[in-house]
Amino acid sequence: MTASVLMCRPDHFGIEYEINPWMHVAVKVDHALAEAQWDALYRTYLDLGVEVELATPVAGLPDMVFTANAAVLWDDRAVLSNFHHPERQGEEVHWRQELERRGFDVHELPRALSFEGAGDALFVGDRLFCGYGFRTDRDSHRPVARILEVDFVSLELIDPRFYHLDTCFCPLDATNVLAAPDAFAPESLRVIRDLVPNLIEVPVEVAAGFACNAMPLGGHVLSSLTISQLEAPLKAAGYTPIPHAMGEFLKAGGGVRCLSLPLGDGERGKARDPDAQPAG
Ligand code: ARG
Repeated sequence: MTASVLMCRPDHFGIEYEINPWMHVAVKVDHALAEAQWDALYRTYLDLGVEVELATPVAGLPDMVFTANAAVLWDDRAVLSNFHHPERQGEEVHWRQELERRGFDVHELPRALSFEGAGDALFVGDRLFCGYGFRTDRDSHRPVARILEVDFVSLELIDPRFYHLDTCFCPLDATNVLAAPDAFAPESLRVIRDLVPNLIEVPVEVAAGFACNAMPLGGHVLSSLTISQLEAPLKAAGYTPIPHAMGEFLKAGGGVRCLSLPLGDGERGKARDPDAQPAG
């Protein structure tokens, strides 16, 4: 159970460049609506007993709202992202500070390796499932896993709409995983089928509504509106979907999971300073 999540208010959120197929600078963000959508998610976390820590938004870094891309975390270790696109590289120094302030031991990869944090690296049990093909280099997976001292597998993403692993793959627990088969190369899909005890297959049009960009919390799965279409298989796995309107963030190619970086499950969190709070 996630006890603590890092979010960043959408104060400076906008579509100021195009680095994935969802982004069109001509399609403006409705800021009041974005704030309302972000706030509804924030409040749901609080209602579910999750502690939400807030990163300080920075002007000129419109995608900082997507905290999932800051780093991948395990215990007290963090592997900081090396963003693929220069447009997001300015975030790295801020994510380092945000994580160090919270007691993480922050590691970096060689600059030449692109790696986009929890957007492309998700745990199923103790094994790290890593995506590559668009934002993260396959060659980054081994050094990331070595730093965290975990096993890993590499999964090839083939549909540019699903440019981060967390847009098409969501571990609910060590047994149940949501995934959109169409987003993966055939060999990678075989790996998923081999390793995941219960794969809940998500039709591509449901995944295109960012249903897989989801956060499991206890018996709930928070996600965008299309998660409602997965009610039956989720129920069979013991979960209730909680849909959230995410339309303003979908314009940037992000949903619930992109807006949320789990910081620890309570047990792990205890190893860190429980009083460590963001300055802002
Ligand atoms: N506009 C952002 C980008 O393209 C969206 C990031 C979404 N984050 C995620 N974890 N999938 O980088």
